Amino acid sequence: MQVFHHIKTLRQSLKTERLAGKRIGFVPTMGNLHDAHLELVRTAKETCDIVVCSIFVNGLQFGLNEDWDKYPRTFQNDCEKLRSVGCDFLFHPDDNEMYPNGLENQTRVICPTMTDVLCGASRPGHFEGVTTVVTKLFHIVEPDEAVFGIKDYQQLAVIRRMVEDLCMDIEITAAPIHREDDGLAMSSRNGFITEEERPKVQVLYKTLCSTSEAIKAGERDYSKLQSQAREAIEQAGFRVDYFNICNSKDLEMAAVDDRAITILGAMYTEGARLIDNVSLVLD
Ligand code: PAJ
Repeated sequence: MQVFHHIKTLRQSLKTERLAGKRIGFVPTMGNLHDAHLELVRTAKETCDIVVCSIFVNGLQFGLNEDWDKYPRTFQNDCEKLRSVGCDFLFHPDDNEMYPNGLENQTRVICPTMTDVLCGASRPGHFEGVTTVVTKLFHIVEPDEAVFGIKDYQQLAVIRRMVEDLCMDIEITAAPIHREDDGLAMSSRNGFITEEERPKVQVLYKTLCSTSEAIKAGERDYSKLQSQAREAIEQAGFRVDYFNICNSKDLEMAAVDDRAITILGAMYTEGARLIDNVSLVLD
């Protein structure tokens, strides 16, 4: 695996590969890699000749009171993991390389659709930071295909929309949610869950599943289901950020005749904010 810290050298190497007719796959990450990230690399390897992974903890997508400074940075470990799954190129720029003019006066990419609800409502500016950095990374790597996890469902939906709106010639592939044995979705932030909380946090996934089962069984009173779900999570001792039954495409609240539904939830533990979702299609 070749490691690049600079845009210029990465571009030169990618140009050579592209001229040789290679299909370029891209997996953007913020590092502290776990199995779910490696699965994204494996997915890209299935259809691409050269897979590029990026590790960049993007300050632009963190709010003032969020965990940018304590976000785990584990570069050496990450390199080993990426080598073990055959990642070809790793791009690891520093803040100055990505934002030479600082964060303040940065040109932004704004995708107003779908970004003021769910995670966007409690993290103002977050998705603007994501769409801006992903656009920059797309311009640097110019991939044929980019892989994103369904775990961050809203992020995936926003990026799909951005790619469509800005006519970017990039295929977006969605990778399934990778979970621990008890159902907890893998996340770099799981390291902030205390030992005492750990057995209880599966309540989020369990509640998403039971809500999905209730809908499949014919329940259509979505506000009742949402309140029951919030209660179940609060009873387990966690503060709920949101628990919404949505239309899978535009993330509006689901209507009773919607067939493609995604249930999304977010809750706070002592040291982390956990998100998860479950999708279902009614026939
Ligand atoms: P990060 O949180 O590091 O996630 C990188 C990719 O891994 C995202 O596409 C995310 O959806 C995926 N991922 C994380 N946990 C997953 C899981 N349990 N199952 C499946 N996929 C999972 O998302 C970001 O970084 C950033 O916002 C980024 C897109 C890199 C822009 O800065």
